[in-house]
Amino acid sequence: MKILVTGCAGFIGSHVAEALLLRGDTVIGIDNINDYYDPAKKEKNLEILKKHKKFVFYKEDIRNYDNLKRIFIRENPDKVVHLAARAGVRASIQNPLLYQEVNIRGTLNLLELAKNSKAKSFVFASSSSVYGNQEKTPFSEDDDVSTPISPYAATKRAGELLCYTYHHIYNTSITCLRFFTVYGPRGRPDMAPYKFTKLIIEGKPVPRYGDGTTKRDYTYITDIVKGVIAAIDKELSFEIINLGNNKPVMLNDFIRVIEEATHRKAIIKEMPMQPGDVNITYADIRKAQRLLGYQPETSIEEGMKKFVEWYEKDV
Ligand SMILES: NC(=O)c1ccc[n+]([C@@H]2O[C@H](COP(=O)([O-])OP(=O)(O)OC[C@H]3O[C@@H](n4cnc5c(N)ncnc54)[C@H](O)[C@@H]3O)[C@@H](O)[C@H]2O)c1
Repeated sequence: MKILVTGCAGFIGSHVAEALLLRGDTVIGIDNINDYYDPAKKEKNLEILKKHKKFVFYKEDIRNYDNLKRIFIRENPDKVVHLAARAGVRASIQNPLLYQEVNIRGTLNLLELAKNSKAKSFVFASSSSVYGNQEKTPFSEDDDVSTPISPYAATKRAGELLCYTYHHIYNTSITCLRFFTVYGPRGRPDMAPYKFTKLIIEGKPVPRYGDGTTKRDYTYITDIVKGVIAAIDKELSFEIINLGNNKPVMLNDFIRVIEEATHRKAIIKEMPMQPGDVNITYADIRKAQRLLGYQPETSIEEGMKKFVEWYEKDV
């Protein structure tokens, strides 16, 4: 199979691309290596992929329809895995127009090009943030998602809606995966697992937003990759599916897990809750289990231990 992976230099994209290459697929990678976080980290991820003969890379911006079209014509991929996006809730409040351009316009470009090509199978990276601040837990795919509380969340919901439209009109097979706080080696430096680990190791204060009782359903990268690969292979008609761990962890407990993994004590700096932050994320994963055979296997203790090992060796 020839699979086009957008965002291939990023955290999740580099792991998905690597897993596809390791099983023998050809990967056409697209990424603009932007500076949302240190581009050197993305270049380093690319180096891993470039060791594989069946990896082809285009440094390109998904907002550029004409250039993407040239890539589609030249490469003629069988499937598309669309992971490129501006991620990050807080940054989306600072720069909503950029989020709209990349996450909505960029997604529309890819849907449009996929439907004009032989790639009739599309996987889209959505997010648990579409659930907003709903109180009912766990979050199920049938829940109302009409009240996103950040521009980022709204762009991801918009992406899902566009996916449905393209499925409806052109019969493209599309699976939207709602990822729940993914962490692990090569993790994003703007996310809590990386940020907190770095601060604790450096003996610097850790900003704890709120009273530490907020909860996140942290999901280990290897589990997520298995879910993404299953979605690529199954070619479901149109589905929206949660990929989480189904075990939310309280912020105070999460900090304790990092303390144990790093053998250091955190210095807590208390901060107010931030706009756009939700109180809890908690995935109902029964649909993923049923349709994708998805079964997360990594506990937070085990996952953070592996993350810290990677961090101490590689960062
Ligand atoms: N990491 C998580 O916990 C999480 C949770 C929910 C959803 N997601 C979604 O999963 C996807 C991957 O996230 P990630 O954590 O790997 O983030 P990431 O930032 O590490 O990866 C995204 C990649 O997309 C690239 N990109 C961004 N804008 C681009 C553009 N205009 N053109 C081409 N490439 C562009 C970036 O350079 C980056 O390498 C994103 O769509 C994100 O919204 C991630």
